[in-house]
Amino acid sequence: MPVNTKEIADRINALKNQKNAVIMAHYYVADQIQDIADYVGDSFFLAKKATETDADIIVLCGVRFMGESAKVLNPDKKVLIPEIAADCPMAHMATTDSIAEMRSKYDDLAVVCYVNSTADLKAASDVCVTSANALKIVSRLPQKNIFFIPDQNLARYIADQLPDKNFIFNDGFCHVHNSIKADVVKKAKELKPDAPLLVHPECKPGVVALADYVGSTSGIIKYAGESDAREFIVATELGVMHELGKRYPDKSFYPAGPMQICPNMKKLTMEKLLHVLEYEDNQITLPDDIMRDAALPMEKMLRLSK
Ligand code: 13P
Ligand code: SF4
Repeated sequence: MPVNTKEIADRINALKNQKNAVIMAHYYVADQIQDIADYVGDSFFLAKKATETDADIIVLCGVRFMGESAKVLNPDKKVLIPEIAADCPMAHMATTDSIAEMRSKYDDLAVVCYVNSTADLKAASDVCVTSANALKIVSRLPQKNIFFIPDQNLARYIADQLPDKNFIFNDGFCHVHNSIKADVVKKAKELKPDAPLLVHPECKPGVVALADYVGSTSGIIKYAGESDAREFIVATELGVMHELGKRYPDKSFYPAGPMQICPNMKKLTMEKLLHVLEYEDNQITLPDDIMRDAALPMEKMLRLSK
């Protein structure tokens, strides 16, 4: 580690201890941030961990919706994000108007909100899900009609496994996963025919159909550890390669295609993490009614995923 990077890391650790802060990071942020975090995980793990900490400050190293989820579940704690401009475009790809429209059309409707969404959308929904628990939670809902927002690809992956439900799709998508192309993935499989293909369900159905395993970032990491294979093709954001390499140094991981990089996750830097710990700016604040209404579907997710 270059000296100035080590100095930054030392200052981050000192401030963290001094202020009783906890650093949580998603697998898509820079390797150094993953390394300094107290917890690294998928969206579900981070939301759950946020409810279990007794720290006074949560520094959520991820995109804005992750900070909002932590705040909604911890209204009395200070939640900081290192880069306020790190926002997930998909989080805005649904509207409260379309939710109201569906509620007026269907009596027996559950609005299921992927956590990759704004707090406003969560507040208008019945239950939140992540890619790690969506199947379990939707299968447990009594309603037949499911309006699944914002991600159409995750919705289709879940809908295919629950034929008794009537899914209503929304046209949101993650631009990073949605840009992974089936013909490019097929070429990667031809080059590595023995390597299982590990796919995130935010990918298009044509890519999901080629997969040996489909799951959240944590699911992908777990599968790679349990499999006897030595080589894997990975169809998700390349930040996961860091944890895969650390945990399984004797295995090899190849991207399914080019450009599997989330520009928003990559806006976070060690300097920004240090700055936010020092000055406590970039605090997540939300209107009281949104905090209250968004907590209900988030807490329902935590209950139903047990
Ligand atoms: P998970 O880590 O929950 O699989 O989420 C993927 C993602 O796109 C987060 O932005
Ligand atoms: Fe949003 Fe996709 Fe980036 Fe995740 S990887 S933050 S879903 S754009």
